[in-house]
Amino acid sequence: MRIIASPVEAQTYCAAQRETGKQIGLVPTMGYLHEGHLSLVRQARAENDLVVVSIFVNPIQFGPSEDLASYPRDFERDSQLLAAEDTDVIFAPTVEQMYPPESVTFVEVTGDLTKGLCGARRPGHFRGVTTVVSKLFNIVRPHRAYFGQKDAQQLVVIQRMVADLNFGIDIVPMPIVREPDGLAMSSRNRYLSPDERQAATVLYRALQHAKARIKSSVRSAAEIIASMQSVINQEKSAKVDYIEIVDANHLQPVGAIRGEVLIALAVYFGKTRLIDNLRVDE
Ligand code: PAJ
Repeated sequence: MRIIASPVEAQTYCAAQRETGKQIGLVPTMGYLHEGHLSLVRQARAENDLVVVSIFVNPIQFGPSEDLASYPRDFERDSQLLAAEDTDVIFAPTVEQMYPPESVTFVEVTGDLTKGLCGARRPGHFRGVTTVVSKLFNIVRPHRAYFGQKDAQQLVVIQRMVADLNFGIDIVPMPIVREPDGLAMSSRNRYLSPDERQAATVLYRALQHAKARIKSSVRSAAEIIASMQSVINQEKSAKVDYIEIVDANHLQPVGAIRGEVLIALAVYFGKTRLIDNLRVDE
C-alpha cells in the first residue's frame, strides 16, 4: 500500500497506472473510518484493479461555527483498516497542498438541488464538497467513484456535477451501513455521550415510523412529518434541525407522497448534529 501526500505525485502515479490499462476506483473520505466507509472500499476492490482511498478533512465544506477543529482523526488506525482491505493507495494531502494560498477556484452546483435540506442549513457546504471532489477526480482520474446513500443530497449533487461537467466517471451509490440498533454509522457518532448515543436511535425509529405510515396508505407529507416530530420529541436531548420529505430525484419537497420519496432529517443531540434518511417507494 502506497501512502501519497502530494497531489502532483498522486496524479502522476495514477496516470501511469491508467496508462497500463488498469481500472481505477476512488473512495473519497474524511477519515476516521468505520464499516460504512469500508463497505465502499470493498465494492471498489471488487470492481477495479487499483483502489485509491482519499483521506482529507476538507476545511472548505465546514461552516465557521462547525466542528472542523474537533473532527476526529486517526491516520494510523485508518491506514491499518485500509491495508486490511487490500487498498492500493491512500491519498492524504495536507490543507496547504490542496489549497495553496493562491487558489481561488470553486465548483458549485447551483439551483434547487443544493437549496433545501442540508444546503439550507449549511451555507457553502456543498460548494466545498463539489470543489474538493472535483479536485480529487482530476488528481486520480478514476473510472469509478463510490459514495454512500448516507449523505443522500451529497450523492445527488455529485451525480449532477459529473453529468454537467462531463467528468466521465461512473458514480456508484452504496447503501447505508447501520449499527445493530439502526443508528447509521458516522464518524460523528463518537462525539455522543452514552445517553446521547442511546437517544440517537430515535432517528431510525422516526424513519421506520414514516415508512410504516406510507405503507399504510397515509399520503400527506405534512402529516407524516408531524408524526415523525412527535416520535423524536420522546427523546428530551433531541432537537430537530429539519425533517423533510422530498422527491427522490429532484430533492423538491412533496405535499403528497407519490412514487419514490426521500425522507431526510437532521437532528441535534447536544452539540452533535446527525443526519439520516430513507428512500421509500410508494
Ligand atoms: P465522509 O463523511 O468521511 O464519508 C465518506 C463516504 O462514506 C461518503 O460517500 C459517505 O456517504 C460514506 N458513508 C459515511 N457513512 C456511511 C454509512 N453509514 N453507510 C454507507 N456509506 C457511508 O462524505 C464525506 O466524507 C465528504 O463530504 C467527502 C465526499 C469525502 C468530501 O470531502
